Amino acid sequence: MRLQKDGSEMRNEIIIIGFVAICSLLVAVFGDGDLDRDLEITWGDGRARMVGDNNNEQILKLSLDRDSGSGFQSKNQYLFGKIDVQIKLVPGDSAGTVTAYYLSSLGFAHDEIDFEFLGNLSGDPYVLHTNIYTQGQGDKEQQIYLWFDPTKNFHTYSILWNPLNVIFYVDGTPIRAFKNLEARGVPFPKNQAMRIYSSIYDADQWATRGGAVKTNWSEAPFIASYRNFNDRHACVWTSSSSSSSCSSHHQYSWLRHSLNASGEAMIKWVQKNFMIYNYCTDTQRFPHGLPPECSSP
Ligand SMILES: *[C@@H]1O[C@H](CO)[C@@H](O)[C@H](O)[C@H]1NC(C)=O
Ligand SMILES: *[C@@H]1O[C@H](CO)[C@@H](O)[C@H](O)[C@H]1NC(C)=O
Ligand SMILES: *[C@@H]1O[C@H](CO)[C@@H](O)[C@H](O)[C@H]1NC(C)=O
Repeated sequence: MRLQKDGSEMRNEIIIIGFVAICSLLVAVFGDGDLDRDLEITWGDGRARMVGDNNNEQILKLSLDRDSGSGFQSKNQYLFGKIDVQIKLVPGDSAGTVTAYYLSSLGFAHDEIDFEFLGNLSGDPYVLHTNIYTQGQGDKEQQIYLWFDPTKNFHTYSILWNPLNVIFYVDGTPIRAFKNLEARGVPFPKNQAMRIYSSIYDADQWATRGGAVKTNWSEAPFIASYRNFNDRHACVWTSSSSSSSCSSHHQYSWLRHSLNASGEAMIKWVQKNFMIYNYCTDTQRFPHGLPPECSSP
C-alpha cells in the first residue's frame, strides 16, 4: 500500500472535489426549483407564467379569466415514476374552476392518472377528485376533502406509478392505491409512456356543488401556483429509440414499492374521515356488480 499520493493524483482529487462542490452549489441554488428545465407552458396566451419568488425560487402560475384558461406540460415522457409537485390552489372564491394535474398518454385508448381540484366559494372546501384510465377506460372516480386548506400554502401532490401499483399521495400520506390486478383481468397502465399535464379551466357546468354554483368572473383572474416539480425518481422514455432511462430496474426501490400495513391504514383513515365519493361503493351505478378491483383479494 502506498501512503503518499503524487502531485498529479493530488491535483486530480482537488479538481474532482472542486467540481463536486460547484455541482452541490448549483443544486443548492437551483434545486428542484428549476421548473424551466422540466416544464413548458403550452397554452393560455400569456396567462401561464414562470416567476421568481423572494427566495429566488421559480414558481409557475396558471391563470384563468373569462376568455381562457392556461396550461403546461412536462418536457419528458415517462414510463413509470415517482413524481412530486407542490401546488397552492386558487385562493378565495374559486367556485366553478378546476385545476387539473395528471399523467396522460393522450390519444385513443389512453392511459391517465388524474388529480383534479374542484374549486369552491370562499371558506367552503375544495374537492380532490382522482381517476385512472387504462386503455381509454376511466370510471374509477374517487373524491375526498383535504385535511387542510390547500389555498393557504403549497402542499405536495405525488404520483407513484410502477408495475405493481399506482399510489396517490398528499404531503406524503397515501390517499389512494390502484393495484395491478391484471391476474384478475383488470387492465393496468404499464405499456404507454405518459407526460405530466396541468391546466386551469372553467367547469362551472359541473364542478362546484354539481354545477349549482357558477364562476364569479368579477373575481378573475383565478391563479394556481406550482413549485418544486421533481421527476428525479422517474424513468424518462425516449420514443424515438423506444428506450427508458431505467434500464436496470432493480436499482430503483420505488419501482418495487407498494404499501405496507401502515400505508394501507392511512388510506383507511382518509376514506373514513374525508371521502365523499368512491366508485367502488356505488352499487346504483354498477347494478350488475362492482368492478373486480373493488373486492378485496
Ligand atoms: C363546496 O362546499 C359545499 C358546502 O360545504 C360542499 O357540499 C361541496 O362538496 C364543496 N365542494 C365542491 C367542489 O362542490
Ligand atoms: C362576485 O364577486 C364580486 C366581487 O368580489 C362580489 O361583489 C359579488 O357579490 C360576487 N357575486 C356573487 C354572486 O357572489
Ligand atoms: C411502511 O412504509 C413507510 C413508507 O414507505 C415506511 O416509512 C415505514 O417505515 C413502513 N413501516 C413498516 C412497519 O414497515
